[in-house]
This record gives sequence, structure tokens and C-alpha cells, in this order.
Amino acid sequence: MLELNVELGERSYPIFIGDNLLRDSERLGSFLGQNRPVIVTNETIAPLYLDILINTLHEHQPLVFVMPDGEQFKTLQWFERLNAFLLEHNCGRDTCLLALGGGVIGDLTGFVAACYQRGIDFIQIPTTLLSQVDSSVGGKTAVNHPLGKNMIGAFYQPQAVFIDNRVLNTLPSKEFAAGMAEVVKYGLIYDADLFAQLEQHSDEIKAQHPQLLPQVIHRCCEIKAQIVAQDEKEAGLRALLNLGHTFGHAIEAHMGYGQWLHGEAVAAGMVLAAKLAVMRGWLSEQELTRIVTLLVNYDLPTSAPEQMSCQDFIAHMRKDKKNKAGRIRFILPTAFGRCELIDDVSEAELDTLLSR
Ligand code: NAD
Ligand code: GLY
Repeated sequence: MLELNVELGERSYPIFIGDNLLRDSERLGSFLGQNRPVIVTNETIAPLYLDILINTLHEHQPLVFVMPDGEQFKTLQWFERLNAFLLEHNCGRDTCLLALGGGVIGDLTGFVAACYQRGIDFIQIPTTLLSQVDSSVGGKTAVNHPLGKNMIGAFYQPQAVFIDNRVLNTLPSKEFAAGMAEVVKYGLIYDADLFAQLEQHSDEIKAQHPQLLPQVIHRCCEIKAQIVAQDEKEAGLRALLNLGHTFGHAIEAHMGYGQWLHGEAVAAGMVLAAKLAVMRGWLSEQELTRIVTLLVNYDLPTSAPEQMSCQDFIAHMRKDKKNKAGRIRFILPTAFGRCELIDDVSEAELDTLLSR
């Protein structure tokens, strides 16, 4: 088993990565309070893994809250329903929530944990690659609002993250690819060696090699933990984790949520960011080609949807949460393992980039 820590003083917590952690009753049980824990999951994951987890925690008599599957349920309505469930079952401050699922379940459960009775414990048990390398670590919790994605939420850290390698066996390949976009992102922003490893071993990683993939997941969590430890609330450094996201969020919003997976939109967004860096002379054409080739190898899109105009992008990007003083902010790769945040991109530059 691999283990690391997110160092945040008294809010520090461990991340465990290994086989069959869903069955590790001793380790999971050590994070639970006196009250019955509540497992939160969805209708897709429940038939696959809920019985295993209930069995693991049988001494604690877990309660179970199953919601429908989909981004469209990451809402204030389902936030309210989960709170009502906790109240109806007399859950107190010593109740621990267990988020068994991908980023949707993790984000919603974490936000309920942040708010219920002014804050209760929660544990992340991420079941998608994206949630294992990104959303379960770092304490960003949220629900969507009809006027914007992740617009209502809190920074609220879990007590622990349990990453069970086995659950990825049932993940649809399109979802696996979407998670790989975030993995490539870590290589680009922080670790040229990781980027090279992803190039060299793409076939093994796609086939979920039993040693290589957990090591890659561990490295991603390590990078995220280092960044979050320095900048938990995104005053600066943490914004670099949004490489590809300014363009990516615009694609997701314009196409309609669910049409493009988040990771797919981020992949196309990273290529646009890299092209902008090439236009500025900060990245070479050869480096751009390596980025595109790597994303293609992991079955990811590398260009924006044809029907999206420059004005479509700008309209969406003006609403980006990273913007400051009305300026759209972009993260651009300046080398493998290095990137910069900029806010001086002109409409003319965007027009050249997006009309290519
Ligand atoms: P998701 O939670 O919707 O899961 C994707 C699909 O895979 C769903 O249909 C789910 O039911 C299914 N699934 C999950 N695990 C499975 C398994 N092991 N086997 C079979 N099917 C499985 O999507 P996601 O990509 O995990 O997360 C996306 C969400 O995460 C978005 O809401 C996004 O805003 C959020 N997010 C949050 C952060 C953060 O820092 N908090 C970071 C990135 C993304
Ligand atoms: N997913 C970006 C972050 O956690 O900051």
C-alpha cells in the first residue's frame, strides 16, 4: 500500500492507495466516531461497491443515502435532501459521511459535511480516476447553481482519502481517459519526469498496470498535496492546477454539461493553452506536438468543438471564477513541468488562436 499526507496543520490527513481498501475495516473504522456513519453514493456505484462497504463497516451499522447518477444532481436540492436525511436519522456532530463515488458524490458530500451542524467529518472514497487524482484531495467542495458550475461551496478538508485501485476495473474507458487528462496536467504543470513516464508507458497505464498506475496516482496526489499545503484557498499557486480549465470550462458550458466530460474539455483546453504559449514564443512547436500526441494516445480530444466561435469562448470565459478585476486569467505551459498564470491576453490573440 502507498500512503502520503496532506500537511495542513491540525487539518492534515492521510491518503491511502492500495488494493481492496474498501474491505479494510480496521483502517476505515479508525476514522469513524461513535455515531452510525452515513455512506453517500449513487445508483450506478451502489450495485458495484455498496455491499462491500456495508459489509466492511457492519459493526458500525452504516446508514445509506443513494442518489441518482449525474452532474445534474450536484445541486442545492440534493444538498437539502441529504441534510434532511441526516436530520431524520438523528445524525449528530459525531456522524461521519463516507463519499463513495466520483467527483459529483465527493463534492456534494463534502459540502454537506462542511455545513451540517456547522461541520462534521467526512471521508473520501473516490471511484473514478479523476476523483482519485484530483477532486478527492484538497478540500474543494461544492454544488452547482443554474447560473454556474461549482458556484456554491466551501473549502473543507476530509479526514482521510481511501483510494482503492480495484474500483477502476469497472470504470468506463471514456471516464478513464477523462481522468488521464488531469494526470497529464500534473506532468505539464509540475513534473517533466511524470510527463515522460506517461509518454513511455501509455499502453501499460491505459491497461491499468497493477504497479505503474497506483504509482502514477500516488505522484499526482503528492503534487496536489504539495500545492494545497502551500495554498489551500487558491490565493496564488493552487490556480496552476487549472491549466486548460479556462478554455475547458467554456467548452463544457457552451456544449451543455455532460456533452463533453470535464477531462475531455480540459484536454482540448490544455492544447489551446499550449498553442497560446507557442504564439508567445514560450513553448516550441515540438513541445506542442508532444503534448498533442500524448493526449491522443490517451484517447482524448485535442481541439475545440468546431461550432464554438471566439466570441462564444470569450462570453463564457468572462464568468470564470479565476478572473480578477474583470481580466480573464489563463495558465500557460512554459516548459514541461512549468507554467505561468497570465491575465494580459488580448482579444486579437484569442481571435488568432481560436480561428486557426
Ligand atoms: P462523476 O462523479 O460523474 O463520475 C463519472 C461516472 O462514472 C458516473 O456515471 C459515475 O456513476 C461513474 N462511476 C464512478 N465510479 C465508477 C466505477 N468505479 N465504476 C463504474 N462507474 C463508475 O465524474 P468525475 O469525473 O469523477 O467527477 C466530476 C465532478 O468532479 C464534477 O462535478 C467536477 O466539478 C468535480 N471536480 C471537483 C474537483 C475538486 O477539486 N473538488 C476537481 C475536479 C473535478
Ligand atoms: N481541481 C483544482 C483544485 O483542486 O484546485
